[in-house]
Amino acid sequence: MSIAAATDSREIVLPDAAATLALGRRLGERLGAGDVVCLSGNLGAGKTTLARGAIAAWTGRDEEAPSPTYTLVQTYEGGKGELWHVDLYRLKQPDDAWELGLEDAFAEAACLIEWPERLGGRLPRNRLDIALTPHGEGRSAALTAHGAWSTKLGSI
Ligand SMILES: Nc1ncnc2c1ncn2[C@@H]1O[C@H](COP(=O)(O)OP(=O)(O)O)[C@@H](O)[C@H]1O
Ligand SMILES: [Mg+2]
Repeated sequence: MSIAAATDSREIVLPDAAATLALGRRLGERLGAGDVVCLSGNLGAGKTTLARGAIAAWTGRDEEAPSPTYTLVQTYEGGKGELWHVDLYRLKQPDDAWELGLEDAFAEAACLIEWPERLGGRLPRNRLDIALTPHGEGRSAALTAHGAWSTKLGSI
């Protein structure tokens, strides 16, 4: 699978967990079917927190979404269809991801993917990468748009 050159990027400082949730909510409001967002960063970086904000916006419900650390996938229904929250930390090999139905989800659902590195680069060309890193007491989010995402990046 080819990987398109990054066309646009932004850096957003997240001073606390509430800021991470708020970024997730803004993202969730703008997601649609077929959108793929890759969340990278070490354990504790804030990936699941960001995903929870996006899930709350997608479903319109505020309950705490469980981390898919063991199930690998949690799916949610919202007004815009299905959202997949995927955590590939425990994926043994990239091929196992296709048994989860990930390829169809890339096309038909909105997807938030933690540990996308586990797919060995087999990611869709149109996607948004969000890399979370420590920043003082908080975090910093580096957003990189690939393909069609570049036109949407400014609105997040
Ligand atoms: N911007 C932030 N500043 C400080 N703490 C944060 C921030 N975002 C998230 N956290 C906290 O970091 C911890 C780990 O978050 P989590 O989302 O579970 O990380 P990950 O999924 O990357 O392992 C949680 O306690 C969460 O509240
Ligand atoms: Mg997590």
